[in-house]
Amino acid sequence: MKSGLVSVEGKVAFVSGSNRGIGKAVTLALLERGAKKVYAGARNPTSLNSLKACYGDRLVAVELDVTRDESIAEAARLAGDCEILINNAGIFSVGNFLSGNLLESLNTNLEVNLWGLVKLTAAFLPNLRKQKSAAIACVSSIIGLASMPMGLTYCVSKAAVHSTIQGLRGELKDSNILVSGVYPGPIETDMTKDLQMDKDSPENVARYIIDGLESGLEDIFPDAMSSEMGKLYADSPKELEKQFSGF
Ligand SMILES: NC(=O)c1ccc[n+]([C@@H]2O[C@H](COP(=O)([O-])OP(=O)(O)OC[C@H]3O[C@@H](n4cnc5c(N)ncnc54)[C@H](OP(=O)(O)O)[C@@H]3O)[C@@H](O)[C@H]2O)c1
Repeated sequence: MKSGLVSVEGKVAFVSGSNRGIGKAVTLALLERGAKKVYAGARNPTSLNSLKACYGDRLVAVELDVTRDESIAEAARLAGDCEILINNAGIFSVGNFLSGNLLESLNTNLEVNLWGLVKLTAAFLPNLRKQKSAAIACVSSIIGLASMPMGLTYCVSKAAVHSTIQGLRGELKDSNILVSGVYPGPIETDMTKDLQMDKDSPENVARYIIDGLESGLEDIFPDAMSSEMGKLYADSPKELEKQFSGF
């Protein structure tokens, strides 16, 4: 079987970190674009009450903390019919070599952004492999492709996610599963509330992610800044490194 285009219409999806920001926008977009059911993963499922009131049984709130193995195992068990996994949950702990919290911050970012994503993917994979066609979208970042010194430890975690995406895609290349990497630039969410720069909307990101899956895109640059920087990266990774090194 070969992975390819994955239409959302009539499909069952799971979104981690679905209660706010990009994850909430993706959850809403999946429902609006005809997904049969969306399992909405959240550390606090009651934070999904208002979404649940709008979408009824098509939205299933699932307790998920990606740092807790039991929580991951139970989510994977509950969502055994999932066909599209959106690995979105993430944090941004600021840290670098000069910040005085290098190791602590690296550990915090890796625990959620890398280990959480890897463990969730591994838990869902056996059932995804049983589907006719399936997709795994993993949210890295444009700064997972070239590091920004002010957020070095976050960049390291997102670079590791990028490498995970590539390796997983290679492992699954002859399978039923499309593996897409998502590389956003600055997006207007709680994560970037202290960042003074132009930001795109989570709704645009959600639209690009779903369009990307539906057209079988492996690398999704879902906003204005990342689509420009993605082209630069394709032409010259070194030039992107130079541009980001000033931040
Ligand atoms: N915003 C940007 O500019 C930007 C750019 C590039 C990439 N990204 C990536 O996009 C993804 C979504 O970010 P966002 O901007 O939407 O951030 P956000 O608004 O801060 O939302 C983060 C989401 O992740 C969840 N989360 C955090 N730790 C978790 C854990 N241990 N287990 C399960 N869920 C957890 C949060 O749940 P709680 O509500 O319980 O905390 C929340 O739902 C992240 O992977 C982020 O790194 C964001």
